[in-house]
Amino acid sequence: MANPLFTKKPMDVLMKEASGESSHGLKRTLGKVNLIALGIGAVIGAGIFVLTGQAAAQYAGPAVALSFIVSALACAFAGLCYAEFAAMIPIAGSAYTYAYATMGRGVAWIIGWALVLEYLFAGSTVAVGWSGYTVNFLDSIGIHIPPELANAPLTFDEHHNLVLTGAVFNLPAAFIVTIVTMLLYRGIKESATFNNLVVLIKLSVIFLFIIFGWQYIVSDNWVPFIPENTGTFGQYGVSGILRASAVIFFAYIGFDAVSTAAQEAKNPQKDMPWGILGSLFICTIVYILVSLVMTGIAPYTELNTAAPIAVAIDKAGTGLQWLSPFIKIGAIAGLTSVILVMLMGQTRIFYSMANDGLFFKPFSEVHSNFGTPHVSTLVTGSVALVASGLLPISVLGELVSIGTLLAFIIVCLGILILRYKSPDLPRPFKTPLFPVVPILGVICCGAVMSFLNQLTFIICGIWLVIGLFIYFAYGQRHARY
Ligand code: ALA
Repeated sequence: MANPLFTKKPMDVLMKEASGESSHGLKRTLGKVNLIALGIGAVIGAGIFVLTGQAAAQYAGPAVALSFIVSALACAFAGLCYAEFAAMIPIAGSAYTYAYATMGRGVAWIIGWALVLEYLFAGSTVAVGWSGYTVNFLDSIGIHIPPELANAPLTFDEHHNLVLTGAVFNLPAAFIVTIVTMLLYRGIKESATFNNLVVLIKLSVIFLFIIFGWQYIVSDNWVPFIPENTGTFGQYGVSGILRASAVIFFAYIGFDAVSTAAQEAKNPQKDMPWGILGSLFICTIVYILVSLVMTGIAPYTELNTAAPIAVAIDKAGTGLQWLSPFIKIGAIAGLTSVILVMLMGQTRIFYSMANDGLFFKPFSEVHSNFGTPHVSTLVTGSVALVASGLLPISVLGELVSIGTLLAFIIVCLGILILRYKSPDLPRPFKTPLFPVVPILGVICCGAVMSFLNQLTFIICGIWLVIGLFIYFAYGQRHARY
């Protein structure tokens, strides 16, 4: 008998699910603009509002703008492969579903489990960032939240030992996760409308920063554009640009979340590639411009802070002060939408896995009125709430990156396999320059991954072992295909 780990989900079943012939219950309400907004909503967040400054100060200098191009290339290769899959198999499960169709149940399970790292923990990580900006903003209008109630009780010291911080719980982070979960419970359409509004606010604020900040650029700050390497690998110079591109990779995470909404898209064959590639393109341009303005206004050495855009604004003097509260509000709004899309992505992954019998059945239930996977939403929200209230952000952030990179690599491999094995399947969108693009996708994502720290690999390994345990205890026995 064939090894069940390699059993594939039949393409005709997937096609039926995608066409809606089998009743899945999710509503098809999202158009092209909604999907692009969904992507931007997931992408622009803690990466640009927090990490860019640190990456510039520690690794790349003004050349962090080049790091954004390097990272964007890795994402573009993976994004093209995602677009091909999402248009061909417009099912909610994203990379998990694609792996099930091409590499079999075992790989599908691993990737579904890795995606939990991406979406669930990205939601938590960004909620912690949201808490930081919100506390800071409230402070500036005279409302003070005690630090014990706005920070995680646990953190890692410099030797990676888990230590107590003295804080009790990160209440604001838990608060925003609760609000977002309630929205997601209520309905995808409401969530998408809210998301469009938030995306509009965050893009407006960022454009204000680019347009008005541009006039305050001191070109001397860009000289040298690529600071000389200090002699240590990754500290400035070319290796610094690469190291920074691994750090700011986090900033791009999320465009793939568009593919998790494939089953709720009105016209997925046409609109999925638009949503995925359109949001990636817009975000790349925005990131390059923001990093140029930021390092042009303030010397890169001064940007190693949690709020680098705010530092740049201060540096410009009184002329830009009016922008400061808008930036904070924009950041808070921006981070909210990232949490929304990430948690939504997670609920859809669980939903798909449960539909296939690989994960606990209640996760595939759809609410009779709201048309949302409500059990999946509540459980996802609860875990994210606890994680964001208790856990340190530093390790979470890298875990998110490793989970995502793993998914990207498998998606690129999946495109390679499927083109050879099933060349005749209808492909409404085809990755250009085949097989160069998927191969480069695997290589680039692997290279970015190699820059992550060792502890991340260890935790990811433990995570996968827990996943395999659940798979053999439950998934293997209940699998429908
Ligand atoms: N790309 C998302 C962010 O930067 C995860 O917050």
